[in-house]
This record gives sequence, structure tokens and C-alpha cells, in this order.
Amino acid sequence: MPVNLLKIGLISDLHIGEDENLVQGIDVRANFTKALNSGSMSDIDLLVLAGDLANENGEPGAYRYVAEQIKDLKVPVCIIPGNHDDLSVMAKFFDLEGKIHGEKCYYRFDFMGHPLFFLDSACGTVSEDQLQWLRQEAAKEPGEVFLFMHHPPCFCGHRFMDTKYSLQNKEQVQAVLAEIPNLTHVFCGHYHSHFEVAMGRQKIHVVPSTQMQIGANTPHFTLKSSAPEWMVAEIGENFVETAVYLN
Ligand SMILES: [Fe+2]
Repeated sequence: MPVNLLKIGLISDLHIGEDENLVQGIDVRANFTKALNSGSMSDIDLLVLAGDLANENGEPGAYRYVAEQIKDLKVPVCIIPGNHDDLSVMAKFFDLEGKIHGEKCYYRFDFMGHPLFFLDSACGTVSEDQLQWLRQEAAKEPGEVFLFMHHPPCFCGHRFMDTKYSLQNKEQVQAVLAEIPNLTHVFCGHYHSHFEVAMGRQKIHVVPSTQMQIGANTPHFTLKSSAPEWMVAEIGENFVETAVYLN
């Protein structure tokens, strides 16, 4: 079967607030829409919102705003929750029908010949149920599969995020992912920084944030930039190319 070129727009860590007030002095709504409406996104086939849509704790106004912004998009949108999201609130604003299993949002989306898998790491871990499901589903596929989850499954060389907020059960997750031979690329967010990290034979693409970028070289929080950044990934036959854009 021919493999189609698939162009994915990836937006992560929007941190939209309940209302239009600035979030930590940043116009996060304008930052998000700059990414969404940028020329780099004009010919994507699919949009992925990679978690932390809401700023603190699943603010309904954040989801209402994001839902309004994406409602007229001509392409499908895949959403995964982050640690600042509340799945029960998200489900009121986005179509997550059939995607929530035991209070976790995980699913596959087969699109343009590519099996795309989405996991829920919002609580800081990936549950055993999800890992077994991923292993079983990926085993059904003859070709490459792609994974999306909010937390990177490995350390990325970010001194602050690695130390304070990395995925808690990363050893368990890594062990399962390593046993999935056709899993080649993982797309994540959460780190408010762009990284491309090799994890064994798998490549981890860490999508930066539209809210702000966090400095990677100090063990404490430092603001690197309050300009939005986002990623566009092109997936073809045996290749993935990513580009990061900023406003
Ligand atoms: Fe996060």
C-alpha cells in the first residue's frame, strides 16, 4: 500500500486561562492563535494539540476558547490531555467519544495510511493498561506506527524539567516502547522547549510551547521567551522531518 505524505501541525502547552486576562503577563490566547493561523499551518492535514490546553487546572473557559478557535478547521484535530488538563471538563467541549477508557483518554487514529496512537500521561505516569493496549495494537500493524503523549518518555537534557517534572514511570514506559519494533517516532510536549532526542532506535520529538519557552540550562525556572513556538512534522515512507516555527 502506498504511504501518503502526512503533514501534522503540533501545538502544545497552550496554558489558556479561564478568561482573557494575561497569564503570567503573557497573552496566551494571542500566542495560540498566532500558531494556529500561521502560514506554516496552512497546508497541514492534521492538527495535534499535545496537552496543557488549560493553564492551571482544567479551566472551562480555556476549553471553550480553544474549541471556538478550531471549530471551522478543515482538518481533523487530535487532542491529548496534559497535567494541567481535566479530562471530565475537556469532554464537555471536545468530541472525545470512544476515546476515554477508565478515566484515561487514549486512542488510535488511522489517517492517510498512518497508524497514529495517542496516550494519556496527564497524571504524570502512563498506566499499564495503556502500555499493553499500545503494544497489542502496534503489533497488528505491518508498517511504522507513531505515538503522541504529553510527557516525553525520557530525560531530554533540560535541567529544570528533567529534575522537577519528568514522566514518573519512564523506565517502565521505555521498556515497553523498546519492545515495539515498528514504533519509530514519539511526539511530546510538556517541556516548554524544543528537543529532538534519540531513545534507542526511537526518535523523541519534543514540541515547544505556545505559552512560553523555559530555559534548559539551569536547575531552577528561567523564562527563555514568551513568544509562541510550534512544530510541523512531515511523515512519509521511512522518514520524518520536523520544523519548529516561532512568531
Ligand atoms: Fe505539562
